[in-house]
Amino acid sequence: MGAYCLMYWICIGLLLGVCWGADPFANFNLELSYVTASPLGVPQQVIAVNGKFPGPDINVTTNYNVVLNVRNKLDENLLMTWSGIQMRRSSWQDGVLGTNCPIPPKWNWTYQFQVKDQIGSFLYYPSLNMQRASGGFGSFIITNREIIPLPFNTPDGDIVIMIGDWYTRNHTALRRALDNGKELGMPDGVLINGKGPYRYNTTLVPDGIEHETINVDPGKTYRIRVHNVGVSTCLNFRIQNHNLLLAETEGYYTSQQNYTSLDIHVGQSYSFLVTMDQNASSDYYIVASARFVNESLWQRVTGVAILHYSNSKGRASGPLPDPPNDEYDTSYSLNQAMSIRQNVSASGARPNPQGSFHYGSINVTDVYVLKSLPPVMIDGKLRSTYNGISFERPDTPIRLADVYKVKGAYKLDFPSRPLNRPPMVDRSIINATYKGFMEIILQNNDTVVQTFHLDGYSFFVVGMGYGEWTENNRGSYNRWDAISRSTVQVFAGGWTAVFVSLDNVGVWNLRSENLDRWYLGQETYMRITNPEDTGNKTELPLPDNALYCGALSRMQKPQRISSSSTQLVCSKLYVIMVIVFSKIFYGLR
Ligand SMILES: *[C@@H]1O[C@H](CO)[C@@H](O)[C@H](O)[C@H]1NC(C)=O
Ligand SMILES: *[C@@H]1O[C@H](CO)[C@@H](O)[C@H](O)[C@H]1NC(C)=O
Ligand SMILES: *[C@@H]1O[C@H](CO)[C@@H](O)[C@H](O)[C@H]1NC(C)=O
Ligand SMILES: *[C@@H]1O[C@H](CO)[C@@H](O)[C@H](O)[C@H]1NC(C)=O
Ligand SMILES: *[C@@H]1O[C@H](CO)[C@@H](O)[C@H](O)[C@H]1NC(C)=O
Ligand SMILES: *[C@@H]1O[C@H](CO)[C@@H](O)[C@H](O)[C@H]1NC(C)=O
Ligand SMILES: *[C@@H]1O[C@H](CO)[C@@H](O)[C@H](O)[C@H]1NC(C)=O
Ligand SMILES: *[C@@H]1O[C@H](CO)[C@@H](O)[C@H](O)[C@H]1NC(C)=O
Ligand SMILES: *[C@@H]1O[C@H](CO)[C@@H](O)[C@H](O)[C@H]1NC(C)=O
Ligand SMILES: *[C@@H]1O[C@H](CO)[C@@H](O)[C@H](O)[C@H]1NC(C)=O
Ligand SMILES: *[C@@H]1O[C@H](CO)[C@@H](O)[C@H](O)[C@H]1NC(C)=O
Ligand SMILES: *[C@@H]1O[C@H](CO)[C@@H](O)[C@H](O)[C@H]1NC(C)=O
Repeated sequence: MGAYCLMYWICIGLLLGVCWGADPFANFNLELSYVTASPLGVPQQVIAVNGKFPGPDINVTTNYNVVLNVRNKLDENLLMTWSGIQMRRSSWQDGVLGTNCPIPPKWNWTYQFQVKDQIGSFLYYPSLNMQRASGGFGSFIITNREIIPLPFNTPDGDIVIMIGDWYTRNHTALRRALDNGKELGMPDGVLINGKGPYRYNTTLVPDGIEHETINVDPGKTYRIRVHNVGVSTCLNFRIQNHNLLLAETEGYYTSQQNYTSLDIHVGQSYSFLVTMDQNASSDYYIVASARFVNESLWQRVTGVAILHYSNSKGRASGPLPDPPNDEYDTSYSLNQAMSIRQNVSASGARPNPQGSFHYGSINVTDVYVLKSLPPVMIDGKLRSTYNGISFERPDTPIRLADVYKVKGAYKLDFPSRPLNRPPMVDRSIINATYKGFMEIILQNNDTVVQTFHLDGYSFFVVGMGYGEWTENNRGSYNRWDAISRSTVQVFAGGWTAVFVSLDNVGVWNLRSENLDRWYLGQETYMRITNPEDTGNKTELPLPDNALYCGALSRMQKPQRISSSSTQLVCSKLYVIMVIVFSKIFYGLR
């Protein structure tokens, strides 16, 4: 510790000399624990963050260094992931088993990363073992620096709405069902900000359920950030009598368009600008209802909250606003998804316009077709697959295994097409080429709509369709203003095509956001290395506080809760120093 302190004093000189004006730090303590809640009238243990369910908003400004000390007060291993945040050059902080050893119960672990070149609405949630089905989630907001203008007038307020399907069974019970080869079945309801539905219908909603109320002032325009944090249900989101002006999704500004309702898939985030332009003759319903299911059977899977104007003259009553009437028109939702375009003239996080990056004229270097099928039995266990491979969770994180040259921790043989062979459980990952430009076609041969998510990147959603994708479909790609995002839907019996520029070194998880499919093995990783990097330039070094497990578990020291204040101060200074050093390398890049 003494040495760290000494090095700190050396570094302070460097700090004053080289790193003047360094990006600010934002520190958070996140404590995950069980609390009792009854969102649907049935008491159950939910996962709270700092005692809150849903967890608190994390709200930072672009380029901040974010330090999050996560304390695990659950009775099982934990990892938090920061969905949609690119963790540039540092998959070490991504919080999935391919990059991090889990945080054991009673332990804490500090994540640290810089939120670089991103502005918008993101999510955090626990990544292991279906825990998100019990909570632990929250909104992660990155705001713009003053010098970067917004492509709309500054809203009068910022409102977060978390929607998601919900089971009264907890994550361990849901896991047990899947382990026993059973599908999860219909959820018990939809929560809005952790609360059950407003009693819009006395037959459908029992008495005594607490609902969410969003308070607004007439005439004002709010930025409403909506996240689907559910298990597997796509939800149609709408606000009675109000237009939703779509402005941003997962860190990119959209071409602004009004929608009366929008389908929000599991894991997706959107910002709407909503003007309170109604006469407040009563409150208004906010609705999130199940999609792509038989709505008359799934009536109870509907979330209802209340939009309350400060001059409201009465309670909301009567029927809910109608969902889209497209029972016989499968293309409605698909066309809606493709109508979400990037505003190519709006500034992103960087002062230069995003439109100057002409992704449509870059030659594709690698093509991967990832096909999902309905879950199957493999060796007597229910499993789900991409290209016939059900991913076996790593014992030793993939990148950590690289650093310590652990043999056999994974295979670099993930097939670029579905193969004609029996499904298997394996640790196959994608050997991707640094600076390549990859086309990924997600072919969903499963019976349910899926969402696909890639860590470490945003990708361009260039096409979607029904049936089997063929090369001819490339003719229909949007090569000009496709939206860039990190989470995209793939309709049952259809395909989605994305382009991704592989400029972020690391090992990155790609997965189904449907929690059951993810748990059953529908994920893999993309490994991107830069053989020319010998100076920590394109990838940050293994963090000093890395946990060790699997083949490296003998390297893990027991966690001591230190009470010595000097030790604490010194280790904090050491952390700052490490950052300053990496800042120097980064700054000179
Ligand atoms: C989850 O539910 C099961 C019953 O299905 C119960 O035994 C268990 O204690 C619950 N776990 C937590 C953390 O509440
Ligand atoms: C655990 O939290 C303490 C402060 O509460 C902190 O000093 C320590 O660095 C944390 N441990 C890790 C591994 O992040
Ligand atoms: C796109 O962004 C520009 C620049 O901020 C803004 O003026 C314009 O209104 C936006 N256009 C649309 C259609 O969203
Ligand atoms: C986030 O912080 C910014 C400025 O610090 C504030 O304007 C905004 O309202 C905050 N958003 C939320 C949802 O707390
Ligand atoms: C409440 O829902 C039930 C079941 O869908 C329906 O039959 C009934 O008409 C609804 N009641 C009202 C007042 O809308
Ligand atoms: C969206 O709808 C609002 C009314 O709610 C209207 O004032 C606005 O002009 C519309 N914007 C666009 C881009 O259509
Ligand atoms: C308020 O608006 C509703 C529908 O938009 C209309 O039916 C009602 O008459 C209006 N009430 C008043 C007092 O203007
Ligand atoms: C939905 O379920 C109801 C009740 O079982 C049934 O009558 C109806 O035909 C179903 N609708 C569709 C489109 O399958
Ligand atoms: C893309 O490929 C075409 C033909 O294969 C070639 O003519 C063109 O120069 C390439 N473009 C770039 C930017 O490399
Ligand atoms: C991974 O890809 C690189 C080229 O990008 C190649 O040199 C290497 O041999 C591949 N590794 C394996 C194990 O296939
Ligand atoms: C799955 O693939 C088969 C063979 O290509 C096709 O006949 C079937 O319609 C597909 N089903 C779905 C749900 O995509
Ligand atoms: C990269 O970082 C590691 C760990 O901090 C360090 O051991 C190594 O010397 C660094 N390499 C260079 C070339 O700076």
